[in-house]
Amino acid sequence: MDEISLDRRNFLKKIGLVSAGTLLLSSPWLSAFSEEKHTGNSVVRIGIIGPGSRGRHLMGFLLNNPKAEITAICDIYQPSIDEALKKVPKAAVYTDYRKLLEDKSIDAVVIATPLYTHCQIALDAFDAGKHVLCEKTIGFNIEECFKIYNKHKSTGKVFFSGQQRLFDPRYIKAMEMIHAGTFGEIEAIRTFWYRNGDWRRNVPSPELERQINWRLYREYSKGLMTELAGHQLQVGSWAMQSIPDKVMGHGAITYWHDGREVFDNISCIYVFDNGVKMTFDSVISNKFYGLEEQILGNLGTIEPEKGKYYFETTPPAPAFLRMVNDTEHSVFGTLPFAGTSWAPETAQENKGEYILGEKPKSDGTDLLMDAFVEAAITGQQPPKIAEEGYYASAMTLLGDQALVEERTLTFPDEFKLDYLNHRRQTVIP
Ligand SMILES: NC(=O)c1ccc[n+]([C@@H]2O[C@H](COP(=O)([O-])OP(=O)(O)OC[C@H]3O[C@@H](n4cnc5c(N)ncnc54)[C@H](O)[C@@H]3O)[C@@H](O)[C@H]2O)c1
Repeated sequence: MDEISLDRRNFLKKIGLVSAGTLLLSSPWLSAFSEEKHTGNSVVRIGIIGPGSRGRHLMGFLLNNPKAEITAICDIYQPSIDEALKKVPKAAVYTDYRKLLEDKSIDAVVIATPLYTHCQIALDAFDAGKHVLCEKTIGFNIEECFKIYNKHKSTGKVFFSGQQRLFDPRYIKAMEMIHAGTFGEIEAIRTFWYRNGDWRRNVPSPELERQINWRLYREYSKGLMTELAGHQLQVGSWAMQSIPDKVMGHGAITYWHDGREVFDNISCIYVFDNGVKMTFDSVISNKFYGLEEQILGNLGTIEPEKGKYYFETTPPAPAFLRMVNDTEHSVFGTLPFAGTSWAPETAQENKGEYILGEKPKSDGTDLLMDAFVEAAITGQQPPKIAEEGYYASAMTLLGDQALVEERTLTFPDEFKLDYLNHRRQTVIP
């Protein structure tokens, strides 16, 4: 028990950091692990709604936590139920989530169904008195996200969304550095997610196409925006401690002309109130650049996914390299030999530094699930985590709307939470 007991010190050890320092300022939700909370040997009883690919992945983390007990599952697709039962053979099985919600012994639910179903299930779960972890994107449009957030507030039940980077050690440390001013003023954020694949799942019979490949059809999903962008936009706004004012962009199907309805090629520009831009690009017919959030300050750059940072000022290149550089750029034709007074642009390759000493074993999902368990036991909502999830989803959905309507959209005032900027003007729920 001691080994996984999640008091703050163990948590910090687990993510490879030695002291709390200013971590809680940048990532206040980490207080879910506070040793003052003493969740001891308590156990939370959890129902999994939609134990498909992601749902079963999340179940794996819950099964590793002795404070969590998965007592029920619900799915409308028998193969998903069969797979889930291999992990929890004793769990009660439902095919209608409302029946699962009637079970008073269940304290909390994890919702990992397709996007278009999230909102109603989440609202009903809160009304049934359950704590809720809902996968991202939380709602199908901003109105739905707002309803879910408000229901969480009015019922007082714990609400998490599937934004695991909030618990990823590299990102936590990166944000601590960014907010401490290590990289100066953040001037630009470039995010991208490139893959090479059709994003299709195998379908056992043709009539199941839309049910299984729900991601590809606009009735159920908004494709790359709702499946990928939300993670990266959340990171950008976490770095900026603000949400963007506006978004513009373009989306198209350029490669996978296979009957899908969602874009396979997207570029979005989000603009913050100070003019700083955050881009999100995604193409799924070339994977060379992979995925990253590049956060650019006037003193340096950080790439949390890679786990590295780079200062603008690097040691000067050796004289020999400078000479090669000058020769390559043919500056000697017009200048005397020692004439270059400007610093050569091809200084030594900037290899950067690692954010954390060793590569963390966690991408944050295990800690996200552990934090949810802690919060569900105490019934206390960790600060700011619901707001991070809400805004990540809202930014994503506004971006999708801008792509579809091919116009610049402003973040609507009526969907801002109680305060204009949920981080700068602190209102801790
Ligand atoms: N946080 C992350 O990194 C991450 C990663 C992958 C997926 N996800 C999210 O997880 C969710 C599920 O994605 P997935 O890849 O597991 O999809 P999936 O299709 O593999 O699984 C969804 C499951 O929900 C079931 N389902 C559908 N309607 C239902 C209903 N009304 N009641 C109960 N069960 C129902 C399906 O039968 C299926 O078993 C999506 O919102 C997705 O965006 C998040």
